[in-house]
Formats: sequence, C-alpha cells, structure tokens
Amino acid sequence: MQPRHFLTLLDLSRDELRALIQRAIHLKHHPDRDYQPLKGKVLAMIFEKSSTRTRISFEVAMAQFGGSALFLSPRDTQLGRGEPLSDTARVISSMVDGIMLRTNSHETVTTVAEYSRAPVINGLTDLHHPCQLLADMQTFFELRGDIAGKTVAWIGDGNNMCHSYIDAARQFDFKLNIASPKDYQPLPDIVASAADRVALYADPLLAARDADLIVTDVWASMGQEEEQAKREIAFKDFQVNRAVMDAAKSDALFMHCLPAHRGEEVAAEVIDGPQSVVFPEAENRLHAQKALLEFLIKP
Ligand code: CP
Ligand code: NVA
Repeated sequence: MQPRHFLTLLDLSRDELRALIQRAIHLKHHPDRDYQPLKGKVLAMIFEKSSTRTRISFEVAMAQFGGSALFLSPRDTQLGRGEPLSDTARVISSMVDGIMLRTNSHETVTTVAEYSRAPVINGLTDLHHPCQLLADMQTFFELRGDIAGKTVAWIGDGNNMCHSYIDAARQFDFKLNIASPKDYQPLPDIVASAADRVALYADPLLAARDADLIVTDVWASMGQEEEQAKREIAFKDFQVNRAVMDAAKSDALFMHCLPAHRGEEVAAEVIDGPQSVVFPEAENRLHAQKALLEFLIKP
C-alpha cells in the first residue's frame, strides 16, 4: 500500500486537516508522557538548509512519542556526492518509518515521495512550508476559534510561506489578501488554484483592512542572501508596522514563522507587542507535528 505523504496542505483532506488541528490542541493541553504511540519508530530528517524550530520540534516530538529521529545532512551522506535521490529514498525508507526533508527544490521532495515506501514530510522547500501552516492554524483556532470565513492578510514576499497560506485559504476556507512588491508575487498558478479565496493588492494598508490575522516573513529567504540589498529596496513599503496593524481589526493577531528581522519585514513594536503570537506559534510546531506524525506513522 502507498504511504500517505505531507508535501503540501493539499495532501490531506479538509476534514483530516481540521481533525489534525483539534488533535494538536488536545495533545498540547493533555500532556501524557506515558502515551508513546511511536515507540521504536524512527524518523529520518534530511536538512539541506538550516533550521532551529523544524529540527527541534520533530526531534522532540519523536522522543516524546517514544521514537527517535536521525539528523542527516547531505554533507554527511552520499546524497552530497551525487547518489540518485530515487536510490536514496528507497534505501532510507527501507529502514525508517518516516522521512522529513528540508530542501531547496520542491521537486526533491516529490521525487523522494515517489520512491519512498515510508511517509514523506515536507519540512520546507522553495515552494511550500506546510508544517508551519499547521502550527499557524492551530494557533488561530486556539486563540480565536474557527478561521473559516475570516480574513488573513499576507504582507511581503510571495514565497514558500505565502504559497502555503494560499493552500490553507482553500483548505480552511478563509479569505487571503496578499500584498507583495510587483516583482515578488506568489506564483500565478498557485494563486489561480485559489482564485475565489485570494485577492492581490499593491498597498499593504488595503490588504490589511479589517483582517483578523496579519502575517509576514523575511524579505530574503534561505538561499537568497545575496539578494538582500536589492530586496531591502523593493520591500521597503511592505513592513508590518503600527499603521498596518491599525488597518486590521482591533483584535487582529500577528504571526511570523520566524526567524524574524526586526526593523525589516516587521517593526519591533509589532512583533514584541500585544497582538503578536509568534512564540505560541513557534511552540505549536511541536504539538501540530506530533499530531501529524501520529496521523502518518502510528501503526
Ligand atoms: N519557522 C521555521 O521553519 O523555522 P526554522 O527554519 O528554524 O526551522
Ligand atoms: N521563507 C523562509 C521561511 C523560513 C522558515 C525561508 O525559506 O527561508
């Protein structure tokens, strides 16, 4: 039987995603160290890029569930010396119970999933970051209830996080206003896939109007460091600051997947202010991924 994978939010049904969020909330509020559904199970974690939250949350989730996690970098494996992805996927998945992958190209995760006989989880690619959306949705549900029918404003780069927000708008049924500089828009086919949910704006203040949630991310993602100076110019009017928060509803939340650059994509007074929920959001990576691992790997 083919395993289930989690490469984008579209790999789970709407009902499965909602159940997973509720399960994450339950696991968070009913900690039980005797509950070890993944006892003896092993998750291989391949990181082509840096990580604090993703690595720690998956490793801790496996440990708390009675299993273990292997940290693998291409530098230390034959992947870095050119062993085909298809062979690597077959070999690793013959020994472990799940593979978590953080890579540059989204095609890498789809290829690994194609050849893996164990579930594959996307821990971030250039196109998507679905695990972060589980944590973000959990955080919204916990603090504000159901996100269906609400308005979310994405201010900034039309990047991997923005694409996963577009998928989330479809799956969780909210309205998504996106304000990005003209050369940094989300991919048209991803926008088109959610045309009835997504609206594009040139002005962050208009995108933020009456929003229930404001979200942003770094101006230069991992691998784009050499574009930093150019991007600082292109994005200078796309900072989430007091004016943007004031355009939203008075009880709007602020989220950021982190790491953040205060004074660039977000003003310090916003990320460190009362509407910011970035630290519960980061903690929820652990709870949401426990629910995900249980869903994908538990026998
Ligand atoms: N938000 C997030 O994925 O953080 P890391 O890059 O630290 O894993
Ligand atoms: N867009 C960012 C997200 C980091 C979690 C990046 O890809 O670097």
